[in-house]
Parts: sequence; C-alpha cells; structure tokens
Amino acid sequence: MTVGIYYATTTGKTEDVADRLHNFISSAEAPKDVSDVDDLSEFEGLDGIICGIPTWNTGADEERSGTAWDSILEDIGELSLSGKKVAIFGLGDSSTYTENYCDAMEELHSYFTKAGAEMVGYVDKSSYTFDESKSVMGDRFCGLPLDEDSESDLTDSRLETWASQLKGEIPSLA
Ligand SMILES: Cc1cc2nc3c(=O)[nH]c(=O)nc-3n(C[C@H](O)[C@H](O)[C@H](O)COP(=O)(O)O)c2cc1C
Repeated sequence: MTVGIYYATTTGKTEDVADRLHNFISSAEAPKDVSDVDDLSEFEGLDGIICGIPTWNTGADEERSGTAWDSILEDIGELSLSGKKVAIFGLGDSSTYTENYCDAMEELHSYFTKAGAEMVGYVDKSSYTFDESKSVMGDRFCGLPLDEDSESDLTDSRLETWASQLKGEIPSLA
C-alpha cells in the first residue's frame, strides 16, 4: 500500500515544495518528476497519488500548467483509478496572477476525476487573498494552493496542516 508524490516544474519551485511535503509524510515514496514516468499505468499500482502542478499558461482553458503534466492529461483520464485517493497541490502567484491563481490544479482534478479517482485534499479558500481561480469549487480549492513568489513565509505551515489532513484522508499515509 504505497502513496506516490509526482510533480512537474519549470523553475524548480514545485520540486522543492514536493521535497518539503515529503518531510511531513515520509511514509510516501520519494517525489518523482512526472516526465520521468515511462508508463502511466504505474499510477494504477498505487494506493494514493499526490500531484504537484504549477500554473504558467495564464488564462488558458487547456494546458494551463505549461509543464509535462499538459501532455499526459488525456492519458490520465483513460486510466482506471477507482478506489485510489488523489490529492493535488499547486504552485502559483496570488499577487501578480490574482485573476488566475493556481488555475492548473482544476485541470488535473478534472482528468483524475474522469479516471474514477477519489479526490481528497480540498482546502478552504478563506485564508487566501486572490481575485479568481478556476480551482475554486464552492468555498474550497480542489487542492492546496501554495505561493512561493508572494507568500513563501506561509508555505511550511500550509504544508504541515495539509499533511495532517491527508493522513486522515489517505489511510496508508498515517
Ligand atoms: C510568465 C509567467 C506566467 C505565470 N502565470 C501564472 C498564472 O497564471 N497563475 C498563477 O497562479 N501563477 C502564475 N505564475 C507563477 C508561477 O506559477 C510560480 O512562479 C510557480 O511557483 C512556478 O513553479 P515552478 O518553479 O515549479 O515552475 C506565472 C509565472 C510566470 C513567470
């Protein structure tokens, strides 16, 4: 019963945050760059999957991340992930890109949902300052938004709180 952490990155921040998250949930496997995954059926062998995705393509409807995630979204949607728990964290900039804060999380959420995964790791939006995000569903984000550009002082406490939440939601992490 294993949980994998997968990320993609352009300037290294999502990789760094994946490593810091792993410190709080060391029972998960060491973070992997998703561009190093040769066969996505690897996901079907896991009990849980935690995905890290930055947003680069501001305002785009599709391929919002601008990373390796974009080219495998359709393939993720074709997997059989029923019974798997999936959680997403996103990197963005709530100050400069406040109209599109962490938009890419929702795209990943949508394709994992299509694959039948049980989505966990939702976070209340009330402690964030931003104008718009495609990743808001009701009063919550569909994952954990993180802002290493404008709010890096909050990242560690946000990660620690989210790690505790995930230990409740993904039994094999506890
Ligand atoms: C050209 C450019 C476009 C960006 N677009 C967005 C955006 O639309 N929404 C957002 O929340 N952050 C946006 N960002 C901020 C990045 O997502 C943020 O710096 C992130 O930490 C980068 O992660 P990475 O180093 O893992 O690639 C943008 C940054 C740049 C330089």
